[in-house]
Amino acid sequence: MSDTSKSGRGGFASSLGFMWAAAGSAVGLGNLWKFPYITGEYGGGAFVLVYLVCILIVGLPLMYAELIIGRRGGKDILGALRDLTKGAGLAGTLLSWLAGGMAVLSGLLILSFYAVVAGWAVHFFMLSVGGLDLGEGAGETFGALVGNGPVSAAWHTLFMAMTIFVVTRGIKGGIETACKILMPTLVGILSILLVYVAFTGGLGESLAFLFKPDFSKLSGDAVLEALGHAFFTLSLGMGVMVTYGSYLKDERHVVRDGFWVALLDTVIALMAGAVIFAVVFSNDLEASAGPGLLFATLPGLFAGMPGGALVSAAFFLLVVFAALSSAISLLEVVVAYIVDEFGVPRLRATLGMGAVIWLIGLASAFGLNMPVFLPEALGGGQAVLDTLDNLTTKYLLPLGGLLIAIAAGWMLSKQDRESGFSALRGNGDRLVSSWTFLIRFVTPVLILLVILKGIGIIDFGD
Ligand code: PHE
Repeated sequence: MSDTSKSGRGGFASSLGFMWAAAGSAVGLGNLWKFPYITGEYGGGAFVLVYLVCILIVGLPLMYAELIIGRRGGKDILGALRDLTKGAGLAGTLLSWLAGGMAVLSGLLILSFYAVVAGWAVHFFMLSVGGLDLGEGAGETFGALVGNGPVSAAWHTLFMAMTIFVVTRGIKGGIETACKILMPTLVGILSILLVYVAFTGGLGESLAFLFKPDFSKLSGDAVLEALGHAFFTLSLGMGVMVTYGSYLKDERHVVRDGFWVALLDTVIALMAGAVIFAVVFSNDLEASAGPGLLFATLPGLFAGMPGGALVSAAFFLLVVFAALSSAISLLEVVVAYIVDEFGVPRLRATLGMGAVIWLIGLASAFGLNMPVFLPEALGGGQAVLDTLDNLTTKYLLPLGGLLIAIAAGWMLSKQDRESGFSALRGNGDRLVSSWTFLIRFVTPVLILLVILKGIGIIDFGD
């Protein structure tokens, strides 16, 4: 085993830099696009409450597990798991290969369609800057964009080029620097938008929608959707936090840092929800617009508001920034794997894997469908973009999370397992035992439920 892993592979310059980067990964299209629309579809408050509980009892424990594995292993996800699960013999090796392989695959697939959706946000940003009055036509504009392969592909290419550029620059000079600019700007823009909607109306209604639980609207399906989303939004289950954790110099603050990342991610999702629903309600529309909420509904509403073009530009810039810092982390998982496992120089690994992802993404950009001969479960005849989104969010991420929870809870040595908690005084012991209990029993069982629901073996639907 090469020991270049701990030295010479770069790292974050500061704990704060790490936090911006990890939060940058977590905060993305999941917060700005997906959280608002699924909250709308599932009726608001009660769903939000369940989502918060899921973050706390599944998301946070798994976040710690990933950061601890990364920090102690000091390598890409496969290398880190392989080294740390040695004590578990063959089972550990098999688990490592499976979890590592799936993580890299997830990174390739998620980024391929994520970059296409992010590209659409770039398009809407450009339209807003151009002062184009979308008016009632935003829905059609979006429809035309999705149906326009070459234009979607062009924005996809631009977005991938930005992502690749940052990752070629490495951890400190690339990812950390970019996120230290992107994330505070993002928080700033979102705060301004929140103040803006406080004046333009709808905020009270929006907050009531988000925070007043109406449990009659809560179905079993909603609970599992909330759990699945807790994964996606915190970037868990595919080694992002393992990889970023491996670039941490200081292991004492893993627990504290992980907590801040999860909190920031949650606050930003809630802020985005508050802004978006305020706009929707002030126009007397329903909250349940579905996936088209961000691109088809919002721009048209902005157009009718004071300073609409500017607000719209700010909003879509926010989306692009959030997506970029997430995309960087997706690529980094793949690049770290190639660099650490095969000793390929970073530049070459990034350009090579970036090109592969770009190529896969063209299928989504051109709106291709999966081959019809594939079984329905593999998306036969369905749009590539939707199929990849489903496959990764419903199956690969939860399965990856399950394996990581098993590794952290059952295969790591006690010393490794508890390393992240070492700096905690006072309640440290109680925290370690609660976390150990959660990661051993609660997290795996809940994840298993999500997977079984995804496969359709259990159905809570009502
Ligand atoms: N967390 C990101 C978001 O909310 C998506 C993501 C998932 C990023 C998995 C990396 C890994 O948009």
